[in-house]
Amino acid sequence: MNDGKVGVLFVCLGNICRSPLAEAVFRAEVQAAGLLEHFEIDSAGTSNYHIGESPDPRTIRSAAERGVHVRHRARQLSDEDFDQFDYILAMDHENLARIKHRAPRGRTLGAHIGLLRAFDGDSDDGAEVPDPYFGGPRGFETVHDLVERACRGLLAHVREQNGV
Ligand code: 4NP
Repeated sequence: MNDGKVGVLFVCLGNICRSPLAEAVFRAEVQAAGLLEHFEIDSAGTSNYHIGESPDPRTIRSAAERGVHVRHRARQLSDEDFDQFDYILAMDHENLARIKHRAPRGRTLGAHIGLLRAFDGDSDDGAEVPDPYFGGPRGFETVHDLVERACRGLLAHVREQNGV
């Protein structure tokens, strides 16, 4: 927790497709609920592949078609993130494992670290947001659908837990 804010960090591999989209979709949901000042929302990658880059143009385009503005600079997950954020949410198992491996050793972590789709009540246990990077445009639309459902569930969960 950060100045009384609820910190939510979305994490994928490159921080150019799935997690910047999740960041933007969640921010739009929070804004629509009039709760922006209660949240710190960001995204990061477990890899260093695309540090400093803008989101993938396919992410920007498909999100814009659904009225969501995606704007971010890719960055890599850091030690500070584990103090800064209350929720560190991975898009898939591979990145969840990378986050846990990356977590600072030797102290108790306050952050909830888990899969984003765990907050989608209609998804199966262990459901992932699949990597769209090497596929076609339909993959980005699927990612948007999955992320949107999970972000709605996440916001409902956080509101219930934190009384906001
Ligand atoms: P993301 O997608 O993890 O959703 O940002 C990817 C972006 C880049 C690569 C893989 C996945 N890559 O291998 O460069």
